[in-house]
Amino acid sequence: MTTHFLALETSCDETAAAVFTDELHILSSVVASQNDLHVRFGGVVPEIASRAHLRNLLPVIDEALANAKLKLADIGCIAVHNTPGLVGALLMGVTAAKTLAYSLDVPLVAVNHIASHIYACRIAAGRDIFPCVGLVVSGGHTALFRCDSPLSMTLLGTTRDDAAGEAFDKVGAVLGLGFPGGPALEREARTGDPKAFTFPRSFLDSPQLEFSFSGLKTAVLYACHGQNAPKMVPPPTDQKRADLAASFQEAVVDVLVGKCRQALQQTGLKRLAVGGGVSANQRLREKLLTLDAEVFIPPMNLCTDNAAMAALAVEKWKLGDFAPPELDAQPNFL
Ligand code: KG4
Ligand code: ZN
Repeated sequence: MTTHFLALETSCDETAAAVFTDELHILSSVVASQNDLHVRFGGVVPEIASRAHLRNLLPVIDEALANAKLKLADIGCIAVHNTPGLVGALLMGVTAAKTLAYSLDVPLVAVNHIASHIYACRIAAGRDIFPCVGLVVSGGHTALFRCDSPLSMTLLGTTRDDAAGEAFDKVGAVLGLGFPGGPALEREARTGDPKAFTFPRSFLDSPQLEFSFSGLKTAVLYACHGQNAPKMVPPPTDQKRADLAASFQEAVVDVLVGKCRQALQQTGLKRLAVGGGVSANQRLREKLLTLDAEVFIPPMNLCTDNAAMAALAVEKWKLGDFAPPELDAQPNFL
């Protein structure tokens, strides 16, 4: 008999719910973005995010059930991302999930949002992708893993400062492109020259599987406005803005692809799974596909935050690895 799962995601500024089966068929995936609420602050405001989750959760759950043509009584397991993320935001999903599991008298499975980003590749592929190297590039994280199985991921290296998505967002703000910067910067880069500016590519020539994007961010700021410019200056002209965007994007992509190549060489693995919001970037996707490996990148709707990727819960459910009623939100990743 098929078991239907209802999964919740509230780790940052997307309220999401999805329904899937124990055979990894995604029946529905609903994402309510809060961009409109955060855009005037130029970034996610944690308190606003938590309150918006509270408002959005029930309508989003109702829509996910309706799209799957199911009722709450048909759900046999509740899944939730309980780590990592903004603690108040995570707490909304965790509390809703615990309440649902208790009232429906079904198991609760807690999953790690970062592991789910990699598992999105498994869902999209429709077949086993393990063992593989995993790269997660999002607004909060940039990390490489050795993934021996869906539930066994060992950290190979991470960023010393900003995450790649955070750098996209901050550089987007410097270029006057609004929030979130990633998609807007990618659009801007299309008409720019990636060789117009030579920006730093930190750690690219070292064997360490580490990242650093803060120097790159500062280099773009100086190239844009000069070293001693006041903070509030008008954005650059159209062509310069496009050139800065393209050159910045190229530097990030070179580093991400270079580190994946090194991770593949160092581990001897032949598969690469990439997830997280930045993997929606076309230039990154293009260059990753040139690597000498079987490369898995999910479609756009599974790259950015969603609850369908929490189908990783099926793996835990099969092992009877259920969360206790006192499950808590864990903001930290490491
Ligand atoms: O995985 P995600 O949706 O949320 C987190 O878990 O952080 O990632 C969001 C990040 C943001 O920083 C956003 O600017 C970036 O992913 N992003 C992109 C693109 N689309 C989203 N960065 C570069 N190019 C894109 N097309
Ligand atoms: Zn994410």
